[in-house]
Amino acid sequence: PVQQDVLFSVDISCVGTPTIQWTFMSGRVSRDIGAWQTGGYTNVSEDYMDRVHTYTNGSMGLSDLRIQDAGFYVITVTELSGSSKDEGFVLKVEEVLYEDLQFLAVFAVGLASLAGFLMVSMWLMDKAYCRIKAWRQRRQMPGKLF
Ligand SMILES: *[C@@H]1O[C@H](CO)[C@@H](O)[C@H](O)[C@H]1NC(C)=O
Ligand SMILES: *[C@@H]1O[C@H](CO)[C@@H](O)[C@H](O)[C@H]1NC(C)=O
Repeated sequence: PVQQDVLFSVDISCVGTPTIQWTFMSGRVSRDIGAWQTGGYTNVSEDYMDRVHTYTNGSMGLSDLRIQDAGFYVITVTELSGSSKDEGFVLKVEEVLYEDLQFLAVFAVGLASLAGFLMVSMWLMDKAYCRIKAWRQRRQMPGKLF
């Protein structure tokens, strides 16, 4: 969901210290997220600086998800010898309508209760009015008789 975090968890086995690189792809767009070396440098691109978490095991965390983050994430692991391997993840990002719906539901229940309260009050008031009218008429009746 939007604004939530995701962890692309990977388990790497390779010879020596690998270089890890993450790339984002969506349609024709391809963006470097970052690259790092276990126990060495960490280079995260400016666009992702404050949202990406790099882990020494190669995993990558992305926080505060946006709709535009949906797409294909590729990790490239390169050994010192130069041989490398890719692996891809598909990330779907869902918009949360849930909270809005919950708010609407609470609002509707509130309105319904208010309407019910008003209807009962009006009914009670109407009854009270009828009683008062009948009582007044009864009180006036003897006066008219004499
Ligand atoms: C990699 O490290 C992160 C953070 O310590 C952890 O949450 C994740 O489970 C690890 N991934 C694997 C496959 O061990
Ligand atoms: C770090 O990333 C930037 C842009 O993504 C690149 O120009 C630079 O060469 C990288 N530096 C290292 C040490 O990989």
